[in-house]
Amino acid sequence: MRPAKRIENLPPYLFMEISRKIAEKKAKGEDVISFGIGDPDIPTPAHIIDSLCQAAKDPANHRYPETESLPELRRAIAGWYKKRFDVSLDADSEVLPLIGSKEGIVHIALCFIDPNDIALVPDPSYPPYPMGTILAGGKPHYMPLTEENSFLPDFNAIPANILKKAKILWINYPNNPTGAVADIDFFNRTVEFAHQHDLIVCHDGPYTEVAYDDYKPVSFMQAEGAKEVGVEFHSLSKSYNMTGWRIGMAVGNAGIIDTLKRVKSNIDSGIPQAIQYAAIEALTGPQDCIQVHNAIYQRRRDLIIDMLNKIGLKAEIPKAGLYVWAKVPEGYTSIDFAGELLEKVGVVVTPGTGYGQTGEGFVRLSLTIPDGGLVKGLSRLAEWHRNRSKLKMH
Ligand SMILES: Cc1ncc(COP(=O)(O)O)c(C=O)c1O
Repeated sequence: MRPAKRIENLPPYLFMEISRKIAEKKAKGEDVISFGIGDPDIPTPAHIIDSLCQAAKDPANHRYPETESLPELRRAIAGWYKKRFDVSLDADSEVLPLIGSKEGIVHIALCFIDPNDIALVPDPSYPPYPMGTILAGGKPHYMPLTEENSFLPDFNAIPANILKKAKILWINYPNNPTGAVADIDFFNRTVEFAHQHDLIVCHDGPYTEVAYDDYKPVSFMQAEGAKEVGVEFHSLSKSYNMTGWRIGMAVGNAGIIDTLKRVKSNIDSGIPQAIQYAAIEALTGPQDCIQVHNAIYQRRRDLIIDMLNKIGLKAEIPKAGLYVWAKVPEGYTSIDFAGELLEKVGVVVTPGTGYGQTGEGFVRLSLTIPDGGLVKGLSRLAEWHRNRSKLKMH
């Protein structure tokens, strides 16, 4: 059976490959510690689960939900944006709940990308931005995120002939995988650039609530004129440890939101309503859980950075997000280094090239590893370092 042409260039999802390798090792009875996927290990807060359970018992929530979700949920999202970012959104036309933000991130390409259109995609980046583009028949043009430019794209480096064909501009801060953050000046410049070149800005911001040392990330929607040019994807996955419940949102430009709704109404049948009620509780209920989770991640971040320093791997201390972006030792590629850690000490880190070519020379470590595993994983990194030093001496 020959698959459709549009998926010929589509690699398997990065973490499917990593999960397969871990399963192989585990099947051989080996113990693997994973700093791989960014999937919060801390449970969803109890008050959110209570409202989910209660809603699940109500037969009104057993039926097909509406594509645009419950008006109460859209109002809760608009209310949260007002409270958190002082951004006003119309709950009916500028808010669309999603079955997790990944779903909307891929579907937006079907809304705006025709065959051979271009989407401007950061490199490295979260893989669904380029993959959604390819599924829609379009082409990603990669914008390198380099350390010298603080992991921000250099808009001036994009060739004029590319800009003519470009329709979507993807950005993501706090950034996965580099851990970089952006300020409002960068977002204001992005709006200006989008106006100049008639681009739709898709900002992906699921990590705005995961931040450390009193740093408060900004939303793209706070930029002047953001709503004229784009949307922001957000998610309850990382803010409230709800990755398994699958709920997120797109907010911003009413025309873009309406087009996404049109596509989605033909593809999915909405978000299970009990989960929508859980999301309302998450957004409108007590918010202190966020600080509690961030304190846990911050302690893990510091332990990881401390060990990386000890074993001579350079990494910036991230101000936000769930990842440490570390340089591999000299003489290794990202893939070699990740492979060696897995083979020699049973530790999984994600090779930077899994997120694009510019990720070469880096690996990503996630902070979503329970404390026991973290301590064990770090001592294995120290063991790798000791063994390597011994080898060098001989
Ligand atoms: C940058 C980025 N965007 C979006 C997502 C997807 O989140 P969701 O669970 O809402 O689909 C992730 C998940 O890791 C991510 O890292």
